[in-house]
Amino acid sequence: MLRIGVLGSGKGSNMVAIARACAAGDIPARIVQVLSDVPEAGILERARELGLSADHVPPGKYRTKLDEEAERAYAGRLREAGVELVVLAGFMRVLKRDFLGAFPQRVINIHPSLLPSFPGLEAWKQALDHGVKVTGCTVHFVDEGVDSGPIIGQEAVVVLPEDTPATLHERIQVAERRLYPAVVGALAEGRISVAGRRTIWRR
Ligand code: GRF
Repeated sequence: MLRIGVLGSGKGSNMVAIARACAAGDIPARIVQVLSDVPEAGILERARELGLSADHVPPGKYRTKLDEEAERAYAGRLREAGVELVVLAGFMRVLKRDFLGAFPQRVINIHPSLLPSFPGLEAWKQALDHGVKVTGCTVHFVDEGVDSGPIIGQEAVVVLPEDTPATLHERIQVAERRLYPAVVGALAEGRISVAGRRTIWRR
């Protein structure tokens, strides 16, 4: 059983999808710790409803990243819980060396576009404004950049003529809740290896 730690700042729908896949026995993993930088985040409430250990950990003095002390606090909490894979699910802060160094190649993120298109905030809105006909979601390893690490999996979502940012985002999130558990499962089964920027899936 791969021991997973989840970091999130929002409502936690991806965390719930992964927790359900674990509980159903679809993937050989379990969530052992959920942490959030937002004390009232839905992800903490949802995690507690599922009987998971869930805590707010203060992010420190910056707005878009954790400060060094907070990075060490997050890494410490995850290590204490025996976490082997860190899953970012709507965590709205960039992680730097102190954290990533503690979990080399063991931090993954989901982003609501087909990277490398539309990194950063509100990617579904960026896609709509740009006029692309297909967008989607991407799971990737996390490096020190923004949404820039090696891509593990992607699912495409067609943009409809009548789409608003809200309707497009909703369909992308439906795809996310399929893609993220599938990728976590493949990692838990040891079926994914990394060669430079490319990841290789084995059956
Ligand atoms: C997802 O849309 C994900 O792509 C982005 O943040 C959102 C998190 O949603 N990184 P949730 O908290 O998992 O519901």
